[in-house]
Amino acid sequence: MTQDELKQAVALAALDYVKHKLTRDSVIGIGTGSTANCFIDALVKYRDEFRGCVSSSEASAERLRRHGIEVFDLNSTGTFDIYVDGADEANPRLELVKGGGAALTREKIVAACAREFVCIADESKWVETLGRFPLPVEVIPMARSHVARELVKLGGDPVYRTGVVTDNGNVILDVHHLHITSPRLLEEKINNITGVVCNGLFALRPADVLLLGRQSGVETLRARD
Ligand code: A5P
Repeated sequence: MTQDELKQAVALAALDYVKHKLTRDSVIGIGTGSTANCFIDALVKYRDEFRGCVSSSEASAERLRRHGIEVFDLNSTGTFDIYVDGADEANPRLELVKGGGAALTREKIVAACAREFVCIADESKWVETLGRFPLPVEVIPMARSHVARELVKLGGDPVYRTGVVTDNGNVILDVHHLHITSPRLLEEKINNITGVVCNGLFALRPADVLLLGRQSGVETLRARD
């Protein structure tokens, strides 16, 4: 199977996982990226079986609306049952690196409000140790150089993602060459740098379930301590 076919397979597995939990009042949190897009497209079939979605990006919100699925402001929904999103990396504890599509901050907010976070990813995202994928950090524009210097002190090699402005009006630094052995600690440290809005480590709030698309089929994984 190609990578795109694996993404389709995990999106369908997520739909299978979610559909039994849906009621007319259900709100589903929706992530961002090509795998999340596959899930959005698959969800259309059930659009009359639930209330609507909250979205982690303008792009996903637009896609949902195009499909006739209502998108709510997170402030009006409160906590909700389930959030489905992709990842750039996942480890055996289901800690993630996210933000390849620059939506990390809203993704983290939506994940924080979800009782269950279902991550969907093809096998290329599976790693023993996070850090192969450059870690995205969303930064207030005027703090970009300051934050970059602080990230160097943490052992990283930050690169400004030129031409990208997040949905929140900020910029992204992609931090290369990190070997992340203590993801929770690093997540906190980076969040404590003045000028950082959010970083792409999802370790303090990891996924609860990972549907991993392999050539041999979709595996359902829960966090291994
Ligand atoms: C978006 O900012 C990211 O967190 C995505 O979830 C991540 O980049 C995965 O994207 P793909 O599904 O396109 O690989």
